[in-house]
Amino acid sequence: MIVLGIETSCDETGVALHCSERGLLAQALHSQIAMHQRYGGVVPELASRDHIRRVLPLARQVLDEAGLGLSDLNAVAYTAGPGLAGALLVGAGVGASLAWALGVPAIGVHHLEGHLLSPLLAVDPPAFPFVALLVSGGHTQLMDVQGVGRYELLGDTLDDAAGEAFDKSAKLLGLGYPGGPAIAKLAESGRPGRYELPRPMLRSGDLDFSFSGLKTAVLTLVRRELDEGAGSGNPETRDPRQVRADIAAEVQAAITDVLVAKSVKALQHAGRETLVVAGGVSANRRLRERLAAEQERRRFRVHFPELALCSDNGAMIAFAGALRLAALKERGELAGLKPPEGF
Ligand code: KG4
Ligand code: ZN
Repeated sequence: MIVLGIETSCDETGVALHCSERGLLAQALHSQIAMHQRYGGVVPELASRDHIRRVLPLARQVLDEAGLGLSDLNAVAYTAGPGLAGALLVGAGVGASLAWALGVPAIGVHHLEGHLLSPLLAVDPPAFPFVALLVSGGHTQLMDVQGVGRYELLGDTLDDAAGEAFDKSAKLLGLGYPGGPAIAKLAESGRPGRYELPRPMLRSGDLDFSFSGLKTAVLTLVRRELDEGAGSGNPETRDPRQVRADIAAEVQAAITDVLVAKSVKALQHAGRETLVVAGGVSANRRLRERLAAEQERRRFRVHFPELALCSDNGAMIAFAGALRLAALKERGELAGLKPPEGF
């Protein structure tokens, strides 16, 4: 079974082909980061228009690369949500109409399910059941995963997502978009601990998160150390570049400390020995290192998607679509996915 996957939920146009026997056949990605950078964030209207321009040429590209034609497709999967409405409409419109024209099933995939299953594309994939930590620009969730489509929400963010906390803190530090990679880079020359930021909800007793207070604390710190305090004290420690780097390192430490502690707690709560981390923030090196250290100490195994699959991409949508297709086929429910007669 060959599935074409289309991702257009935000600022990446991703298209890929997945084969149930041979795995990923081809994938192509166009990032809009350069286009949105001057605005300091994603401009939804520009995003939708760019997806329209890119999606069909990228689909043609992956088919050519795999040496396949449209008639070889057994299904088309597209990101159905969540995401920017106009951007999603592009992928859904193209995906559903392509499927209808070819007479194959159209599979609307939940964006987070795509992220959640992406570590299973690895050479040494994790086995079910596992706990998943989903950390992206819009979500921070802990999930008990028993199988494809069998997910139980263990914890969620009450306000900002982890990626959003990175992005908003980066903005306060005068760094570009997207903020996560910018903070991570600056943090390399910084010292966590020089400034003290809160670890929100660390001792809340549940598996929920809250990051909006962190943003306020960063704002206060930036005002004190960069806006008002610049110029006083030891010239070396007052160097604005060093101050920025030290704040970035503490922001990264605060966010990752909470993510690590809650993930460990979720593993204990669900009685699982495998942790899967996915979503844009799973690319963060400090998060990876901290979890790798914890797995040694606490005897669980942690799996990440390969770096190229951490942020949004078509491969995870094609793969999630393929797994959904296989599950439906097994249950004899495939007919339910066909576009209705006369649609
Ligand atoms: O999954 P994703 O590409 O898009 C959404 O579904 O939201 O995640 C994007 C988020 C952004 O907030 C970005 O700043 C963050 O992931 N991110 C990172 C890193 N790379 C991307 N955060 C921390 N460290 C990184 N290396
Ligand atoms: Zn995403």
